[in-house]
Amino acid sequence: MFSDYPHLIDLNDYPVSWWNGLLKQAEEIIKNPALYANSCKGKIMGTLFYEPSTRTQMSFQTAMLRLGGTIIGFDNPQTSSVAKGENLKDTTKIVSGYSDVLVIRHPVMGSAKAAALTSDCPVINAGDGGHLHPTQTLTDLMTLKMEKGKLSGLTIGLCGDLLNGRTVHSLCKAMSCYENNHFIMISTKALKMPSYIKDKIRANGGTYEETESLEKAIPKLDMLYMTRIQRERFANEEEYLAQKDTYILTTKKMNLARPDMIVMHPLPRVDEIEVAVDDDTRALYFKQAKYGMYIRMSLILTMLQSNVKTQLLAGDLHTGIACKNKNCITCQETYLPKSFIGKGSTLTCEYCDERLLLQHE
Ligand code: NCD
Repeated sequence: MFSDYPHLIDLNDYPVSWWNGLLKQAEEIIKNPALYANSCKGKIMGTLFYEPSTRTQMSFQTAMLRLGGTIIGFDNPQTSSVAKGENLKDTTKIVSGYSDVLVIRHPVMGSAKAAALTSDCPVINAGDGGHLHPTQTLTDLMTLKMEKGKLSGLTIGLCGDLLNGRTVHSLCKAMSCYENNHFIMISTKALKMPSYIKDKIRANGGTYEETESLEKAIPKLDMLYMTRIQRERFANEEEYLAQKDTYILTTKKMNLARPDMIVMHPLPRVDEIEVAVDDDTRALYFKQAKYGMYIRMSLILTMLQSNVKTQLLAGDLHTGIACKNKNCITCQETYLPKSFIGKGSTLTCEYCDERLLLQHE
């Protein structure tokens, strides 16, 4: 199923050369912002934020304003017609008709792809549940490029909620496309990286190991990516409390790290990085958030200039099969065409990407 517009749902829908082009353009914007100050004059960006956000939402907004464009949207669906029961299809259809580019964040996996299916302008995925977060990954690539000078040959530590953290999913899928990157996944058994992401790393030629010890892993790293335990994705408070505070990066642990290791975090931080670590010159998370603004300027420009069509669903359409992942958008917005890649028992839902045991409706 094709859409008439370019969309950014998953970075891996585009070649590495496209990501590199965005990074290069972002560097040019940093060097000469005045040159870009009117490049989106007359254009409107719609932002549909169904979930809380500070950095992603505001960096997109300031990015568009700095390009000379304007913005509309909501950051609380309860103040929009969503509160009256409007579905994702109708809200997207209407707001995309008012906008030139649409940025969407939603708590349910696959929602950005679902929105793109009906949108009348390009859609950018600003986080779909615990699935993907491509623009955070662009931010992370930019930080690595600017601060480490390279995107290959790196040992990357990922620590915290690797199960529910969409940022680490997108990051692994992207960084494994550059040569010789090795991932050390640091988490409890309950919050391990999903197997479909590990399979992608292997398929892209990357390598990984898993450990529960931050202390053992930290001396080996070029970059440590800390993450927040994603409280809102847990079934209940008890399960969250059992995981909370397992990993806290302290100045003492920073002493075990190499002098050139950098610390990144998509933010918000809760308590997984001690505030005293902020004074360590290797703590780059605030700088990282600022790079996010420049890479989003580059992305908005590129999306508005592109006229490529996007293939959104490439697999077989099924009417008799439902995705079993209760956090998949197809389970909530039941009008959506159900589409799976693969055959027999190895079917993968094209919205939420997880390999699923399927059940007949
Ligand atoms: C992240 C997100 O929303 O997934 N934040 C962000 O976009 N910078 C990480 C998080 O919420 O923990």
